[in-house]
Amino acid sequence: MTSELVTGISELTTNDPERGGLLGRITDAAVVVDGGTIAWVGRAADAPDADRRTDLGGRAVLPGWVDSHTHLVFAGDRSEEFEHRMAGHAYQAGGIRTTVRATTEASDERLRTDLALRRAVARRSGTTWMEIKTGYGLSVDEETRLARLAAEVTTDVTFLGAHVVPPGVDADDYVALVAGEMLDAVRPYCTWIDVFCERGAFDPDQSRVVLEAGRAAGLGLRVHGNQLGEGDGVQLAVELDAASVDHCNHLSARDIEALGSSSTVATLLPACDLSTREPFPPARTLLDAGATIALASNGNPGTSNTTSMAFCVATAVLQMGLTVEEAVWAATAGGAAALRRSDSIGAIIPGYRAHLHAIDAPSVSHFAYRPGMDLTYRVWG
Ligand code: NIG
Repeated sequence: MTSELVTGISELTTNDPERGGLLGRITDAAVVVDGGTIAWVGRAADAPDADRRTDLGGRAVLPGWVDSHTHLVFAGDRSEEFEHRMAGHAYQAGGIRTTVRATTEASDERLRTDLALRRAVARRSGTTWMEIKTGYGLSVDEETRLARLAAEVTTDVTFLGAHVVPPGVDADDYVALVAGEMLDAVRPYCTWIDVFCERGAFDPDQSRVVLEAGRAAGLGLRVHGNQLGEGDGVQLAVELDAASVDHCNHLSARDIEALGSSSTVATLLPACDLSTREPFPPARTLLDAGATIALASNGNPGTSNTTSMAFCVATAVLQMGLTVEEAVWAATAGGAAALRRSDSIGAIIPGYRAHLHAIDAPSVSHFAYRPGMDLTYRVWG
């Protein structure tokens, strides 16, 4: 194993709470990476020696993006539906069934190749950790196939059999299938269970059945909630101590208070909000209430066909009222918190995974200052 000393770092975002400021930034910094782990962090003047040296020539380094919400195992295209939406029609959960049809018809090889390509594209733009959901199968065999394929590229696989009720199936029968036979079949491949708790998808009672079955099977909980209107998703997530409730576009004062005093992370999905023309979540109010926020891409063919975390960060700053520091933290340490992995990823601290993202800019402020620009220079991890 060879160690690497990385110098020439104009600004290092560590996310280390002990270093001061939200991002724990160090100027004129250096990092030593050893065998895939961060071995040393500090000022370049104090750096120890290593087997190899890399001089970044005055570039900024931050933790790799932690994308804690994606649906990247899919086939097919929904650009027509997107165009229809941009012509003024509302997003409907039923669009998911279009992708279910295309995905079911695709071979393992097609799905595997497309997933690998999407993963590689995300990595090229700095994403070093990714959660991937099932949810475009909706039968025991298909959900198991999608979970198996997702598990080939990530350890954070989420079972989302409760994405939408398949056509012609009774909703309660389907919930029983998801919470029973389907859960048993996907269990070996999954870490998490999720439910789309929303009008047009699953009601709060059905969502509870799914989540409690997942928990009994040893899975962590995640919830899609309050995306298309106010509802019970947030309250249910907080009550059941879900790791994350995702979307959060339509929140009551009670929801904000609940998130502010719980460890359930509010995961915000700005690219999805633009593509569905939903109002942005009240990010500022959530932070002021004490909630923890994550930003994620929600990469999927229906509501958010991107894996660009830089785009999400820029949108969160320019449109949602977050500061640069808050947005960068939410897309790195916030994502790690949403996956309950704050002890190993999302920060540059000795002992953490060496997931580093060097950018062709002197500071992370450039993600919002130069929106839409490809800033990634090198990725470790
Ligand atoms: O997170 N909201 C539910 N699931 C996805 C949408 C999936 C689709 O429309 O294909 C989301 O936005």
